[in-house]
Amino acid sequence: MANLFRHLLILVGLYVVSSKPTFSEKYGDLIHTRVGELFRRVEAMQVKKDEPFIPPLLWEKHKGMYESDIKFYFHGHLDLYLFREAFKVYDDNMFNTAWITQCLLEAYMYGNSPKPSDEQIFSSVKSIKEYHNKNLNYSNSLMTFWPQQYNETTKTWVSYPVNLHNFFELAGDFNATFLETILKDLGFADLASIMERLMKSRDGYLRAFLIPPDFDDTFVNVGLGSLLTEAAADFPQSHQQWLSQNTNLTSVFDGLKKYAYRPLSKNDAVNTIDCRTYFYLRHFLEKQVDDKQDIALVPTWIQDLNEVQTMGPKGVDMPFNINNVDATVAANGVFGITSSILSGLVDPNLLHDQDLMQIYLNTSNLLAHMINYNFSSRPDLALLYYPSAFEFYWFVARTYAELQRSTKKGPLPYPVMDFVRDSLGEVLKGTMTEAVLNASIPNGDSQVYFDDFVGDGDLDSNNKTIIRGEDRLFTTAMAINALITTWTTFDKDSRHLVWEKDVPKEVRETVEKAANFLVHNMFSFKPWNAFFSGSVKGTTTFPLYPVNRVSIKVRKSADYTNKGLTPEAVRIYGMQGVIPESAYQELLKEKWFINAPLDFHGYNGYPDYWPFWCSEAYTYVTSMLALAKVSNSVDL
Ligand SMILES: *[C@@H]1O[C@H](CO)[C@@H](O)[C@H](O)[C@H]1NC(C)=O
Ligand SMILES: *[C@@H]1O[C@H](CO)[C@@H](O)[C@H](O)[C@H]1NC(C)=O
Ligand SMILES: *[C@@H]1O[C@H](CO)[C@@H](O)[C@H](O)[C@H]1NC(C)=O
Ligand SMILES: *[C@@H]1O[C@H](CO)[C@@H](O)[C@H](O)[C@H]1NC(C)=O
Ligand SMILES: *[C@@H]1O[C@H](CO)[C@@H](O)[C@H](O)[C@H]1NC(C)=O
Ligand SMILES: *[C@@H]1O[C@H](CO)[C@@H](O)[C@H](O)[C@H]1NC(C)=O
Ligand SMILES: *[C@@H]1O[C@H](CO)[C@@H](O)[C@H](O)[C@H]1NC(C)=O
Ligand SMILES: *[C@@H]1O[C@H](CO)[C@@H](O)[C@H](O)[C@H]1NC(C)=O
Repeated sequence: MANLFRHLLILVGLYVVSSKPTFSEKYGDLIHTRVGELFRRVEAMQVKKDEPFIPPLLWEKHKGMYESDIKFYFHGHLDLYLFREAFKVYDDNMFNTAWITQCLLEAYMYGNSPKPSDEQIFSSVKSIKEYHNKNLNYSNSLMTFWPQQYNETTKTWVSYPVNLHNFFELAGDFNATFLETILKDLGFADLASIMERLMKSRDGYLRAFLIPPDFDDTFVNVGLGSLLTEAAADFPQSHQQWLSQNTNLTSVFDGLKKYAYRPLSKNDAVNTIDCRTYFYLRHFLEKQVDDKQDIALVPTWIQDLNEVQTMGPKGVDMPFNINNVDATVAANGVFGITSSILSGLVDPNLLHDQDLMQIYLNTSNLLAHMINYNFSSRPDLALLYYPSAFEFYWFVARTYAELQRSTKKGPLPYPVMDFVRDSLGEVLKGTMTEAVLNASIPNGDSQVYFDDFVGDGDLDSNNKTIIRGEDRLFTTAMAINALITTWTTFDKDSRHLVWEKDVPKEVRETVEKAANFLVHNMFSFKPWNAFFSGSVKGTTTFPLYPVNRVSIKVRKSADYTNKGLTPEAVRIYGMQGVIPESAYQELLKEKWFINAPLDFHGYNGYPDYWPFWCSEAYTYVTSMLALAKVSNSVDL
């Protein structure tokens, strides 16, 4: 806390905005130089040895991982801006490190970036060994976002952000009244009240961030294994290490079948979903009912409504005790299945299993639907944990590119894969491309950039909005990645990315201008992103939408009550099955504590703050990937 406060004061004194966009220079050799710089920067950011938490200055860190930070999206006047800049808590999670590793591999395999050392990759692969579900007594590849700590009382492994716990514990000891007084004296009254609210919400956050394994991390790990299988000759030690950590991939697909969201099933452990999911997904679901088709989708959490009753109170608990569907998680699910089959990592007969094939087909169709229908105009709900639509587009495009590349080698192993390639190709080249081009912002004649929302919601003393573009680098890199992954195919003989013949001129121009922006501005903006976030980000994302299933079950286990612990109620509050739209419209007229918010006006549209995860290394590596791919792209 003292540390935090010091940062704050330093920032008040030292902050200088240093954006000097260059306009008319041509990109070229500069790309090569930038790729090299970014490569070395990312390499340097990898944690080289384990470090313990030494309060209050040093966070717990683990060898092989890359830094990511928990921040809060404070925005508004100067004090809130400064607090956003200063506040960060180091976080170790599997997602960040696995993605950075995949980007390093892809930038080398499909772009012109240097080859990472087998050591660098190996050390990251090894670091995520700790993220396999430890509550199962068999080998499995069901992964958790955070590392797991053993709780002696409940005999359960619990996954949570260790440093955030440390931070709140430390802050709990600190005399908050004292800090508030200082802040008020300095004229930071807003901050003082925020500190007070933050401390009050401490238990809520600590409780919300005790989570089960999830299909996102699970399939990101499978995707990483698939890439390493393709690149085994270049990274033999890493490949072997990955295989030795993942000896039972069957567990992934068994899990997928067990936990898939099946709204039309009679099984009430999996036919009920978070009311926020139902709100954005319902038109897609209603259509299935009208067409008399069954449906099964990749959900976020690896837990069902039976298990949450027993595991929830022990700290392995889906937030709000209910599963949801997040389009980004779904995209990683589809990529994991596609790449593990095509790379030969899993049994090629996998999709002979009708149930898996259905989940694969239905989830791919969900992705296409989300792209075509603008996330039902509710990206806040459809991209519940991963707010960047550009990142989502890139994740979807990776599946298409994988299928395209494989098609060049020979027929795909299943007709359903041809279908997925064609349907994703159509929406990526159509609506996705148009949406990305629409979002580009010119910066002179020779550059364009893309902004999401981080840093674009501050106010000056006259209440005028200040645009700081703190996620501009990340968003621009992701826009390039989405477009170039969609419109080029890797040719394994020439080792170039070849632009497709039908690529529109605007796509080529936009990619080049965006790359030009990146090379000239790479170190002039904050390298921030909101690659992950808490699901609740202000009123539109509260789980206060219509439900038709509410149950309160008090935990049965006598053990805890005997030990004098209060039994907690595991409350289920969700939408079961699929109901006609007219019936849903009736429900929408009722009050669910509040009237369900129908529209979303962006994350800068209201003053609330919420936790997000920012990884500078991830911004650098995705920028490197974008530039390495641009410089390796050629016409046929
Ligand atoms: C593993 O756990 C299951 C369920 O708790 C139990 O039935 C089984 O006997 C255990 N197996 C081993 C080898 O410990
Ligand atoms: C272990 O679980 C119990 C019961 O939920 C909880 O009260 C306790 O704080 C946990 N211990 C640790 C170290 O987290
Ligand atoms: C906290 O600081 C305030 C103001 O300095 C003081 O009045 C109060 O007694 C302190 N509380 C504790 C528990 O030390
Ligand atoms: C692999 O995982 C499945 C569950 O999906 C389990 O039943 C099986 O015992 C595991 N096999 C091994 C060898 O651990
Ligand atoms: C979902 O899968 C089922 C079974 O394969 C199929 O009949 C249905 O049309 C699919 N729906 C979508 C939207 O993919
Ligand atoms: C997509 O949805 C967002 C958020 O509701 C909205 O602001 C935007 O205008 C929509 N875009 C289109 C093309 O409909
Ligand atoms: C792109 O912008 C045009 C013009 O504003 C709009 O009509 C169109 O719906 C947008 N397309 C997408 C996919 O956002
Ligand atoms: C800015 O907005 C705040 C809150 O709405 C208001 O209190 C303040 O007077 C405004 N300042 C100016 C200069 O308009």
